[in-house]
Amino acid sequence: MIIAVDGPAASGKGTLASGLAQHYGLPHLDTGLLYRAVGLAVADEHEGPAFEAAAIAAARALDAAHLKDHAALTTAETGVLASKVAVIADVRAALFQFQRGFATQPGGAVLDGRDIGTKICPDADVKLFIQADSKARMERRARQLELRGVAVDRYALYHQIEERDARDMLNPNGGFFQADDAHLLDTTQLGIEAALRAAIAIVDRTM
Ligand code: C5P
Repeated sequence: MIIAVDGPAASGKGTLASGLAQHYGLPHLDTGLLYRAVGLAVADEHEGPAFEAAAIAAARALDAAHLKDHAALTTAETGVLASKVAVIADVRAALFQFQRGFATQPGGAVLDGRDIGTKICPDADVKLFIQADSKARMERRARQLELRGVAVDRYALYHQIEERDARDMLNPNGGFFQADDAHLLDTTQLGIEAALRAAIAIVDRTM
């Protein structure tokens, strides 16, 4: 069974995907981490041809060990860097292989990201598209960061999320849209437990 979970930044898709993985006993890949790891690898480069070349090399060299340093990977700044490397076609091509490898392991998997239902696993058994309004998404991300002891400037965070959404939506190589056969789940008014129950109900109904 392959479950594809897509949605914008801080929509709750990661938490839902990991809850679904636990519920169904499946391995889970947060594909945003791949783009974040590549973004982090080129954080010191100036944007331009050298940045692109370094990002492509980092994407080709990526392995699971690079996804472990969570603190640096999860910052809002790394999210913005991730969305910059995510527009490079050869970065997406290199990460495609990594994601397909994960998705096709025996027994199935849950993958969350932006283009899982459209490009990585167009044949997924169940596709969910998670939505939530920008203010709710900003507030959730702010609380996550604060729980980790990070001081948050909500105004700046809101703009980082909007900037990332805009770049993702315009990404010509992206495929960041709701697949025709994806189920829409709006989590603006839902807590984690209620959202997970709703997602499980959709998966059970579809299987
Ligand atoms: O999901 P997360 O917010 O961690 O993703 C960081 C960035 O990585 C996104 O804003 C997007 O630019 C990129 N991304 C992508 N395709 C995916 C997952 C993430 O382009 N499947």
